[in-house]
Amino acid sequence: MNSDNFRISGVNSSEVEIEILDADEFENQFSLGSFIKIPFDDNGINFGVGIIDDYRIKSINNDSEESEAERVIFTIKVKLFGSLLFDESNVTFNRGINGIPLPPQTGISILSNEELSMIYKSGINVNDIFEFSTLPKNSNVPVQMNGNKFFNKHFAIVGATGSGKSHTVAKILQKAITMKNDGYEGLNNSHIVLFDIHGEYPSAFPNGNHIDISELVLPFWMLNSEELEELFIDTEANDHNQRNVFKEYVIESKKNLFTGSEEELDRIHYDSPLLFDIYAVYENIKAKNEETIQGTRGPKAGPLNGKLSNFVSRLENKLNDKRLEFILGEDTRSITFEEVIRRFVGYVTNQNSNITVFNLSGIPFEVLSISVSLISRILFEFGFYYSKVREEGSNEIPLLLVYEEAHKYVPRSNLERFRASRTSIERIAKEGRKYGVTLGIVSQRPSEISETIFSQCNNFVSMRLTNPDDQNYVKKLLPDTLGSITNLLPVLKSGEALLIGEAINLPTLVLIDRCSPQPKSNDIMFLEEWKKEWETLDFDRLLEPWKKR
Ligand SMILES: Nc1ncnc2c1ncn2[C@@H]1O[C@H](COP(=O)(O)OP(=O)(O)OP(=O)(O)O)[C@@H](O)[C@H]1O
Ligand SMILES: [Mg+2]
Repeated sequence: MNSDNFRISGVNSSEVEIEILDADEFENQFSLGSFIKIPFDDNGINFGVGIIDDYRIKSINNDSEESEAERVIFTIKVKLFGSLLFDESNVTFNRGINGIPLPPQTGISILSNEELSMIYKSGINVNDIFEFSTLPKNSNVPVQMNGNKFFNKHFAIVGATGSGKSHTVAKILQKAITMKNDGYEGLNNSHIVLFDIHGEYPSAFPNGNHIDISELVLPFWMLNSEELEELFIDTEANDHNQRNVFKEYVIESKKNLFTGSEEELDRIHYDSPLLFDIYAVYENIKAKNEETIQGTRGPKAGPLNGKLSNFVSRLENKLNDKRLEFILGEDTRSITFEEVIRRFVGYVTNQNSNITVFNLSGIPFEVLSISVSLISRILFEFGFYYSKVREEGSNEIPLLLVYEEAHKYVPRSNLERFRASRTSIERIAKEGRKYGVTLGIVSQRPSEISETIFSQCNNFVSMRLTNPDDQNYVKKLLPDTLGSITNLLPVLKSGEALLIGEAINLPTLVLIDRCSPQPKSNDIMFLEEWKKEWETLDFDRLLEPWKKR
């Protein structure tokens, strides 16, 4: 658009009103959300930058008597949010601007793709550039971000169902595991753990370390006291007797099986990650429930006799529950602490992996929270202890934990049954960064996720959001000057997203690059499938995995 076609008609500290003089030149060249640059002076170096927030159309009667035609005037409202300095071939962009100096200069124009591209790169070291998207209207303009700033703090990917979150996760992680410095063969040093609640990611990461329920070994003796109690004790009943006897016998069994020094033995406590015999604990509690003691007038019922009956039968149920084999079965007693950690972080002998995908789809719902909690806690502790033992000169091992459908493990509500996973993940949100452990939170309901988690996220990829509460959530992340681009959230196409945060110089609407290979989350073509011939079904094959749950 010809720059002489813009004329400033009003200015205040954060907003400029601009008239378009000749509407015929308008020609679809910009839309709401387009960026405009306004010169500060007449030497073409300093500019203010704003975003088109609103426009109005006025028609006025043409004064000339020969013509009956009406003249149309467009007025656009531009919210100012930053300034640009053109310096030889460089462009420096700064957020923040102190209004437009008067009198206004001519030479207002829409930012070109090249200028936008320079803004995205401004201030980012070439080695730090990370990109996974382009401008929606121009796939030749990549939107570049600062990759260190993206990964070294927590990030969130939000969007309604079908908006493209899983594909975005796959794209970002595929990029991360393939980027390399020159000079070496083999894997790079990225370490990612993905919690995959629907089992959709194996196809996207064919060389990943895939752990599903049949391979998962999550030893009960590594659970901390809260997780143990959540598993074995009816926490809602709030029965102190149950807690006390359980604690006593767990510690006793840990001590009985311990083979270290006397001094270490004394330090064993309820939370020590040491093997104990859950069957011995069960037998002891059962005995306590049946105990008789010698009274002055002969034998009488012990103090807890009959008071632990519900607890005993609950323990019995858990110990016999085939679905809990991955927590309580034979393998959980023979596996070592080291082997568990190796599997969790992809340091598997002869098969190191940049990405470990926990397929949680087969985990019974009632133990999902403690399972996620235990895995997350171990990964946090891995980062913590590695930071203590890392030797001068050796590489860091930064770990990214990505939670799909995060509202399921870290909901905003205080429900007891999510307490374990919430506590573990919130701890990582608050302290993980210091030890090289960061979070990627993926959710279709941002407004239902724990505030503690969201308030710690520094970068956001917001895809289409249809629910007003969720839209407001994202709106709050943006400065007022840019808040209005969130009006576009409900109408984004699949794969389009608003990138916001520290890693990007300018909050921008983008199209995420297609990932390859894809996660198994593609929409099912109902009509196409329905139109085919009736599908015969092998019910045995259908029921086999079903019955095992
Ligand atoms: N970058 C993209 N460009 C074009 N289409 C895309 C893009 N990303 C995803 N899609 C399409 O959008 C659809 C939904 O993608 P996806 O499964 O990633 O959404 P989702 O947000 O994870 O959904 P859900 O919440 O149900 O898990 C898919 O059919 C996919 O092909
Ligand atoms: Mg998905």
